[in-house]
Amino acid sequence: MPTSPSSPASTPVADATDDHVRIFDTTLRDGEQAPGFSMNRAQKLRLAHVLGELGVDVMEAGFPQASPDDFSAVQAIAREVRNSTICGLARCQIGDIETTARAIEPAASGRIHVFISTSPLHREHKLRMDKSQVLEATARCVERARQLCDDVEFSAEDALRTEPEFLAEVFGVALDAGATTLNAPDTVGYVTPDEIRQMFTYLREHVRGAERAIFSAHCHDDLGLAVANSLAAIGAGARQIECTINGIGERAGNASLEEVVMALKVRPALYGTDTRIDTRKLYPASRLLSQLTGQSVPRNKAIVGANAFAHESGIHQHGMLRHRGTYEIMQPADVGLTQTKLVLGKHSGRAALRQRLAELGQTPDEAAMDGIFARFKALADKKREIFDADLEALALGRDPDAAGPWHITHLHAASHLGGSASASVKLTHEDGHEVSEAAIGDGPVDAVLRAVERATGEALALTDFNIRAVSEGGDAQGQATVDVEHAGRRWRGQGFSTDIVEAAALAALQVANRIARHQGDAPTSTPAPSNPAKPAAAHA
Ligand code: KIV
Ligand code: ZN
Repeated sequence: MPTSPSSPASTPVADATDDHVRIFDTTLRDGEQAPGFSMNRAQKLRLAHVLGELGVDVMEAGFPQASPDDFSAVQAIAREVRNSTICGLARCQIGDIETTARAIEPAASGRIHVFISTSPLHREHKLRMDKSQVLEATARCVERARQLCDDVEFSAEDALRTEPEFLAEVFGVALDAGATTLNAPDTVGYVTPDEIRQMFTYLREHVRGAERAIFSAHCHDDLGLAVANSLAAIGAGARQIECTINGIGERAGNASLEEVVMALKVRPALYGTDTRIDTRKLYPASRLLSQLTGQSVPRNKAIVGANAFAHESGIHQHGMLRHRGTYEIMQPADVGLTQTKLVLGKHSGRAALRQRLAELGQTPDEAAMDGIFARFKALADKKREIFDADLEALALGRDPDAAGPWHITHLHAASHLGGSASASVKLTHEDGHEVSEAAIGDGPVDAVLRAVERATGEALALTDFNIRAVSEGGDAQGQATVDVEHAGRRWRGQGFSTDIVEAAALAALQVANRIARHQGDAPTSTPAPSNPAKPAAAHA
């Protein structure tokens, strides 16, 4: 990590006369900090490239002061992703701001996002600061951020529960100090569309210098109103929406990016403005996030859920056959949903596989393609029907054997009705030595995890385990996700197989391999809570 503040990232200042709605994606920060959604550096980079292709105007890549892993992920994204503004979050503290400036320094276009709480509750109980202290900190910190970067966003945390007059005063101070975007978060997901509309109308009329600013909404979904509130804010002049893929985020989540974007696209006359998102890339982005985190998207989720375009009832099907518009307000292809069908089988060649992967938004290089093709052939031998979801899993699932140092050469698990289960594994280390171990557990998965733990010698304190089918049918592949804590850090491994016990073994082995390597693929970014030096989350 560099040790001194760098020169300003050269960034154009926001143009308040440009009327399109900027999409500020915070999947990698607000989304990633939610339980169950943490990603390691390689996973964040992968998603960041897809967000760039999707066309997000700004991506909040992380909270660099939170941990060295967060810093290094933001820095890597700033280096590699050139088609979006890369933003880092900073508390209203000079140290946070300077760290963030260093992290985003390599970006083609960078932004520092400074936040401080403004509501009476937060001022009194969280900050123990009065109004004048909040104003002073805002001026000082925004000014410092602006010395380091031309593009500075200021957020008033819990803005929607702040006295409107005071909020307008804080925003005026932030603008005078050099902020270009003013974000009013509904941090606790409390307000209704009418209320947020009133607040944005008031702010645009009362903030000193409002005509120079881009107003932004950041809505949480505690009452299920995040998307409706974001749209109401747009109606009142907000021209940046902070949102996440699949609506992930703190507690009930943030406004869902795909829902906000499609509402604006489907109802252009109502809003009179649009986004620059390539909507055909929404579905692949949603799938990738789900695969990376091992968290399924609910079937009935708007836009990207499995049922979003399914017409099951006879009456609906009849109407659809006569005219699609009877029951469909947008086409599956508009959001990048290509028909899930049997596209490939055991006789398909590499070129066909590459083409289908490209249609799914996956463009592996030749070396990665070698591994994917080998795994495709192995899967086609086991599984009669290969679905798109299987292909995505193949492209995602790095062969843990290739990562090493441990390779699995034998696995046996047995369970007995009413009794415990047992498992045995044989692992080979890349230095040539072999280890065989057996263990018993509450079930076969537990037994296998214990056997891998014994064989590798890595203590795997399980914090979460998740298994889900990635495609359809009785022979569907299972994706196992294992979260463990080891030496004060959280680690995640994933495994894919048509056999769920094998998937769990591969996931455990991937974690053990990562721990053994202690480098390369970084651990998940959140430090374990025992690390007192780091802010646990942005909502500290
Ligand atoms: O919800 C919130 O207030 C936030 C801020 C840090 C922008 O996430
Ligand atoms: Zn938030």
